[in-house]
Amino acid sequence: MSTKVVIGAQWGDEGKGKTIDILAGKSDVVVRTSGGNNAGHTIEADGVTYKLHIMPSGILNPRTLNIIGMGVVIDPKVLIEEIDGMESQGISTKNLKIDSRAHVIMPYHIELDGLSEKARGKGDIGTTKKGIGPCYMDKTERSGIRMCDMINPEKFSTMVRENLKIKNKIIELVYGGTPFDADAVIAEYSAYAKRLAPYVTDTTPILYDSIKSGKEVLFEGAQGILLDIDLGTYPYVTSSHPISGGVCVGSGIGPKDIDECIGILKGYTTRVGNGPFPTELNDEVGEQIRQNGHEFGTTTGRPRRTGWFDAVIAKYAVRTNSLTSIVLNKIDPLGNIGKIKICTAYEKNGQIITDFPPTLEELAECKPIYEELDGWTEDISNIKDFKLLPIAAQRYVRRVEELCGCKIASIGVGPGRDQNIDL
Ligand code: GDP
Ligand code: IMO
Ligand code: MG
Repeated sequence: MSTKVVIGAQWGDEGKGKTIDILAGKSDVVVRTSGGNNAGHTIEADGVTYKLHIMPSGILNPRTLNIIGMGVVIDPKVLIEEIDGMESQGISTKNLKIDSRAHVIMPYHIELDGLSEKARGKGDIGTTKKGIGPCYMDKTERSGIRMCDMINPEKFSTMVRENLKIKNKIIELVYGGTPFDADAVIAEYSAYAKRLAPYVTDTTPILYDSIKSGKEVLFEGAQGILLDIDLGTYPYVTSSHPISGGVCVGSGIGPKDIDECIGILKGYTTRVGNGPFPTELNDEVGEQIRQNGHEFGTTTGRPRRTGWFDAVIAKYAVRTNSLTSIVLNKIDPLGNIGKIKICTAYEKNGQIITDFPPTLEELAECKPIYEELDGWTEDISNIKDFKLLPIAAQRYVRRVEELCGCKIASIGVGPGRDQNIDL
């Protein structure tokens, strides 16, 4: 029995949901540890498509316990919608537990996310406008409202009033927005609190006991390592820790309790939102990859920016997350696009750079160095055996593996549960 961490190893949307759903089928416990409903995880199971934002992907498996850890920020309205959506499809949520310490996304967080993005003008981050940043700001500022506070009516009412005294001033005086009515917010969110209270508990002893008794535990990553507040392309990042290290602080376990770290990558690169993207393709090939891979955001519907696979990023992911293996999803969209390129290193002022640079200024000076490989035209989406893939596809996967310096455990050739090839 083991504990596995699954993280996105690029800029998110690497197909984590699909891989987690497959692994969840063999897991006793699935834990979300960071981010909120900025995440959008698509799962295609038995002909049905599920889009999960905050609910752990293990929910589709009736025997799996699903934990939302304290590193997650929760929009109660969205979570209730997901619970209701699941229940109406006959999927029980009785195995869901929410940590008491998880912070609550309040309506003023969502408002402030939109207002601050607008105020940034051309320099906006391109956030999902779900209130993620402002909620984490309150958490670190120590004025945030946690799930345990929300289900305590008296404390909740006091905290909302205290918070709104300041938030309303910022909304009105700094941004010229419309203030919130404290009574209305308290009434609306108290109803959500009642609905969610049965799920709220201290999840840390449950998780500890599960690990100690040898259960199979899966930590479900959200976002991707380049969106990490410290290791990502700051400030074009999210406000949490989507790296493997974030799992410990987001769930209340120590690092020694992690056995495996699995990094999810796509056969190419995508990014939603603004910020640098060295291998971006603003041409016909980029558009073809977008169409072949249906690269449109699960959460916001925005077209995803597309580009070639970047091995500098992949190596950075392996190094900063102690990756023990890689899942390379979405190699099928690379079919029928002609020659395929891989970025093996960057060139900066005549120097070869193989370590992902820490600053935007250095990154802006980096030009990708490409290696060109043959493409393929065959439909590979129903192939189950690596040796039956076109030789060009096999070579592509093996070259990516070599460049990453980490074994590829499986590859994805389609969105379905069975569209994977174990290596
Ligand atoms: P996540 O945020 O990492 O869970 O990824 P998203 O769900 O936002 O985006 C990945 C999309 O690709 C989803 O629509 C998946 O159904 C789909 N997908 C996952 N793996 C594969 C694959 O190997 N091939 C193809 N064509 N689609 C895939
Ligand atoms: P999953 O889990 C892709 C991006 C946003 C924006 C930046 C900050 O589906 O891979 P935020 O709303 O978090 O303050 O936005 O982070 N972003 C994601 N991009 N996939 C995600 O999640 C993302 N979650 C946040 O687009 O650039
Ligand atoms: Mg996604």
